[in-house]
Amino acid sequence: MEKSKEKTMKNIIVTGGAGFIGSNFVHYVVNNHPDVHVTVLDKLTYAGNKENLAGLPADRVELVVGDIADPEIVDQLVKQTDAVVHYAAESHNDNSLKDPFPFVQTNIVGTYTLLEACRKYNVRYHHVSTDEVYGDLPLREDLPGHGDGPGEKFTAKTPYNPSSPYSSTKAGSDLLVRAWVRSFGLQATISNCSNNYGPYQHIEKFIPRQITNVLSGIRPKLYGEGKNVRDWIHTNDHSSAVWTILTKGKIGETYLIGADGEEDNKTVMELILELMGQDKHAYDHVKDRAGHDLRYAIDSTKLREELGWKPQFTNFHDGLADTIQWYQDHEEWWKAEKDAVEANYAKNGQ
Ligand code: NAD
Ligand code: DAU
Repeated sequence: MEKSKEKTMKNIIVTGGAGFIGSNFVHYVVNNHPDVHVTVLDKLTYAGNKENLAGLPADRVELVVGDIADPEIVDQLVKQTDAVVHYAAESHNDNSLKDPFPFVQTNIVGTYTLLEACRKYNVRYHHVSTDEVYGDLPLREDLPGHGDGPGEKFTAKTPYNPSSPYSSTKAGSDLLVRAWVRSFGLQATISNCSNNYGPYQHIEKFIPRQITNVLSGIRPKLYGEGKNVRDWIHTNDHSSAVWTILTKGKIGETYLIGADGEEDNKTVMELILELMGQDKHAYDHVKDRAGHDLRYAIDSTKLREELGWKPQFTNFHDGLADTIQWYQDHEEWWKAEKDAVEANYAKNGQ
């Protein structure tokens, strides 16, 4: 099928553009593509923050506060746009284990609402998803080829096998997109990315939780033994990859985004503590996550070879040091929420 319409992409909607990764993408577009106007559609849930868009020019970025599951607002916005880049989601696994309903509503019904509007107005749609739809992989130490053989990393051909309410609703939304492409000819692409890190990530997530714990005099918390592996990518690299897929991707295709950043949680925890000048063993082991995925690892060859993308921010040590510095310098961004986030975890023994 044809490539997407790069030249006519003057007005785009970014759903979830006030969240961690969506706001990074909005900054990326404003800084790198001066002809593009961005409309952010965001409900401003606990995870959305207007401050993530502070300083952006008003003639380039408009924030519309609304729900992606509201067909009226979605219809009004989609009929005037060239493309929808869909980031909005309930995004935290631990929350999905406590109350799955908002995940079903936003991730599935919200995606359905956007797909129907894009179908009606024949609007280009890019769907931002996660590697968690593929389930998990064995640890490298348990694999004969140490994890680089066929089937030992995720590719676009890996069967879906999600573990949590979060990842199953993301998987469901991906499958809706595939069906809308096949049945209705929707002009859509999908990307599945690994774990992002960087500034503006909500402090419920692993890396910012531990950084802000240290800054608050609280001992960091590692789930279980900390053997679980995540494939870390700087959120700046996720943004450049999504733009590449939006403008050069083949309609109907799925691209996996990753930067070869596998680390186990214990190693990341100890690195954070060392970079913050603490004893690297000064953390607590707490109750493990139910159904905790063991290892994620992305094979991003298709994206690199077919679309020519490559990551730029691949030094994890330096990226983590910069991220720590950002949380140190932006206490006003996270401090007010810290007690409530920790009280919530404490209720669950975490
Ligand atoms: P986030 O939780 O930081 O931000 C989500 C944003 O969506 C918030 O601004 C929130 O207000 C908004 N939102 C939630 N429900 C909404 C609704 N019903 N209507 C409109 N807006 C709504 O999430 P994130 O970590 O930035 O993740 C963004 C997207 O990227 C998600 O789709 C997630 O599945 C995907 N993703 C995340 C990662 C990661 O490591 N964080 C990796 C791969 C893919
Ligand atoms: O892989 C992509 C996914 O990465 C995204 O789809 C999700 O939206 C995003 O939240 C992230 O999911 P994870 O569950 O991997 O991220 P989280 O930051 O919650 O946890 C990372 C790892 O750290 C995981 O193995 C659980 C562990 N952990 C987490 C917390 C909050 C701890 O050991 N201690 C903690 O306090």
